[in-house]
Amino acid sequence: MAIGSGVLKKLEQFLPPNTSKVFVIGDSIVMSLYGDEIKSHLSIETSLLSFAPGESSKVLDTWFELNQQLEQGAVDRRAVVIGLGGGVSTDLAGFVAATSLRGLDGIFVPTSLLGMVDAAIGGKVGLNSGFGKNRIGCMWWPKAVVVDPDVLLTLPDLETSLGLAEVIKIACVDDPPLLDLLLAQPSFRPSTEVIIRAIKAKLAIVERDPFEKGERAVLNFGHTVGHAMEACSNWSIPHGDAVALGMEIEASILESISGIKWRDKDKFLRVREKAELTRILEHQPVTAWQDLLNYMASDKKSTGSKIRFSLPSCFGGGPGNWTVAVDLEVLETL
Ligand SMILES: NC(=O)c1ccc[n+]([C@@H]2O[C@H](COP(=O)([O-])OP(=O)(O)OC[C@H]3O[C@@H](n4cnc5c(N)ncnc54)[C@H](O)[C@@H]3O)[C@@H](O)[C@H]2O)c1
Ligand SMILES: [Zn+2]
Repeated sequence: MAIGSGVLKKLEQFLPPNTSKVFVIGDSIVMSLYGDEIKSHLSIETSLLSFAPGESSKVLDTWFELNQQLEQGAVDRRAVVIGLGGGVSTDLAGFVAATSLRGLDGIFVPTSLLGMVDAAIGGKVGLNSGFGKNRIGCMWWPKAVVVDPDVLLTLPDLETSLGLAEVIKIACVDDPPLLDLLLAQPSFRPSTEVIIRAIKAKLAIVERDPFEKGERAVLNFGHTVGHAMEACSNWSIPHGDAVALGMEIEASILESISGIKWRDKDKFLRVREKAELTRILEHQPVTAWQDLLNYMASDKKSTGSKIRFSLPSCFGGGPGNWTVAVDLEVLETL
């Protein structure tokens, strides 16, 4: 893991010894912005492979197309894949690397805030399918994750705001003083210090629970309700907006069932406002609670007539106790 302004210039030193060639995979926006720069920092044969931007590219067709391009580029076991871009690019590039020739080495160069603090950290790669998001995939760890915060200068404000939802989430579940740091910043654009703190917090949880057997469940804080909101809006509500509201709702649920008051609620609300993550409240009709409950009841995290929520330590979560199942009837009364 390397983080710092200008670290992209040192990309070559993160390549495994004896690398034969490099395939850089990213969407066409990030490739046009950073592809040539990446190439200029590598003395080894490098091909730039791009695909159309957007979630709709994270599918088997694009994976197949990229695999073919690797084959046409005479991929061999010592070839290295660099995943360049936001979470769509790193999820896709990682899955191509994990599956080509039964697994190539790779490096992630995340360029969106969400990519830096979330998607590129934790070893999950994959694709969406007709059965849902991220239904196809595997665990695969890049040899290095190289984060140059300078690339965030070209990231649109909306994407920065959406990425902040995950920074706020990790702060709530594992690093509450990070909320103070976010509040103290002059603008909503995160400083390198904020990015490093968010990455460290996620990395620490992932290292304690690499295969998602327990603690990693807390990373889903805000996501049970958030995911339902996204699905019920037919995916018109962006993930970050949904999670930002989902955290507030899940925290109220956890407060009422645990009797524990959320110490950081006020700070959370102020940080969320600063991150401009209140669009959903201002501009969109929010789905009826009953519709969300119906969706959650049919979702994979629910068991019988109970719905399972992440249980961060501030609500009493701990080893062996990272989630809590709440009766549907109780939720209907809230
Ligand atoms: N693997 C994981 O653990 C994990 C975790 C969270 C999210 N994800 C996945 O991440 C994806 C969302 O990632 P995302 O929000 O980064 O979306 P994205 O990859 O689509 O990027 C958002 C947009 O920003 C553009 N962009 C990225 N970096 C830029 C830059 N520096 N300058 C200008 N434009 C830039 C992209 O071209 C794209 O148009 C989803 O598919 C989600 O499932 C994966
Ligand atoms: Zn998320």
